Amino acid sequence: MARTVTHVTEAEMERQREFIREIREMPQRPNTFHVVTYGCQMNAHDSEKIAGMLQEMGMTEAENREDAEFVIFNTCCVRDNAERRALGNVTWLKEVRKTHPNLMIAVCGCMIQEPGMAEKILKQYRFIDLAFGTSNLHRLPELLYEALNSAGSLVRVTDEDVIAEGLPVHRLRRDAAYLTIMYGCDNFCSFCIVPYVRGRERSRRPEDILREARQLQDSGVKEIMLLGQNVNSYGKGLEKSMSFAGLLRELDRMEIPRIRFMTSHPRDLSDELIETMADSRHILPQFHLPVQSGNDEILRKMNRHYTREQYLNRVSRLREAIPGIGLTTDIIVGFPGETEDQFRDTMSLVEEIRYDGAFTFIYSPRVGTRAAAMEDQIPEEVSSRRIQELISLQEGLQRETLSRFLGSEEKVLVESVSRRSDQAVSGKGTHGISITLPGRSEDIGRIVPCRITGIKNNTLIAERTEK
Ligand code: SAH
Ligand code: SF4
Ligand code: F3S
Repeated sequence: MARTVTHVTEAEMERQREFIREIREMPQRPNTFHVVTYGCQMNAHDSEKIAGMLQEMGMTEAENREDAEFVIFNTCCVRDNAERRALGNVTWLKEVRKTHPNLMIAVCGCMIQEPGMAEKILKQYRFIDLAFGTSNLHRLPELLYEALNSAGSLVRVTDEDVIAEGLPVHRLRRDAAYLTIMYGCDNFCSFCIVPYVRGRERSRRPEDILREARQLQDSGVKEIMLLGQNVNSYGKGLEKSMSFAGLLRELDRMEIPRIRFMTSHPRDLSDELIETMADSRHILPQFHLPVQSGNDEILRKMNRHYTREQYLNRVSRLREAIPGIGLTTDIIVGFPGETEDQFRDTMSLVEEIRYDGAFTFIYSPRVGTRAAAMEDQIPEEVSSRRIQELISLQEGLQRETLSRFLGSEEKVLVESVSRRSDQAVSGKGTHGISITLPGRSEDIGRIVPCRITGIKNNTLIAERTEK
């Protein structure tokens, strides 16, 4: 049954703005901050909101965490190594505090949202001043106000699955912007912690999304990246029904040059969406379609709700409708019980599909998920060997796959000056692949036409074609 989504009331948002104004006037508040972000785009965008709120409180961003009076760790817990890295860095700050006694430390994000985790962390890391979860991010002003007025550490984690509109955002890039269309996830893939730490799936109202998109368009943004854990199932529980494809059509009517999105679940990838992409003016010809495994039995145990055959069918449809489409994926090796033959099925799928890029992961048991309790966990040395094999297969194929672009025309949204030379810049082409071309820092934020002339380490090399 569709649940009604609760929006944080305007009165509550105003109450938070009140705290922002209060903190601005507080003499003991920090003057500078630095947010350290782990994890996916959702977290990166949450960090932009945190920065937005802190700036409204009068703080300025410090480039290095060593120089900030307030350091916030926005954590991820999707795999064990993500968690360990975050905690390692928190500990490192304890040393910094010896020379900076007024340093304030907060920890937030997905890891804090794990049941019992906030309390556990605080017991172990007593020097943390403030901990809060993903579900009460919009209450940061109130929490910070409390923390500044109290001596000990303050932990606040809720599990309200709400949508908060109208938070200030301090964007990392001026030319490209994240735009959240939905929060949470209801899929419960058996390996995944995300539904537990990001709450139930809930879609933002189309009018709120379109308003934000219009503002971004008016501010000159060249690219929007629509965010959701499963964007294809957008629209459940909305008052006025709208599909993801319908939302894309609305956005495509605007004049934002490039529209991308992530992530799509193969089960919900509709023909309507594929046709919408094919007919669109601004939706880029690229698709991130996590497959996770090439074996039906493993897919079933992962609770993915598709077979290898169905996945291949989606890929063919995409390639038919959008020739040359850039295709990337996520793959897990060493899922509980994965036999050598089942792993070979993943290898053969990768060989058959020929992805433009693949993010490969060793399965990492997450407490509370179904897979963590499954028998026959795969030993580390087996998983390590499998992932090495998979990576070298993919790398070999990728060179070949990318060669289809040689000689073709592309457009790059320039992101940065190359690390190797100040005469070269790089960014993403329309197919989602990194491209390096001659240029200077003035090109950053511009869309530059070019022709592909070479391939180097999974990056395309291009020459400029503009006069
Ligand atoms: N919502 C997105 C992905 C979220 S997590 C989706 O459905 O595709 C990003 C990737 O991390 C997943 O696609 C998966 O490949 C990987 N991942 C998630 N949980 C994992 C775990 N417990 N161990 C290893 N990899 C995992
Ligand atoms: Fe995790 Fe699956 Fe949801 Fe993606 S779709 S966030 S992998 S549960
Ligand atoms: Fe990590 Fe949370 Fe994203 S667990 S991958 S930061 S949703």
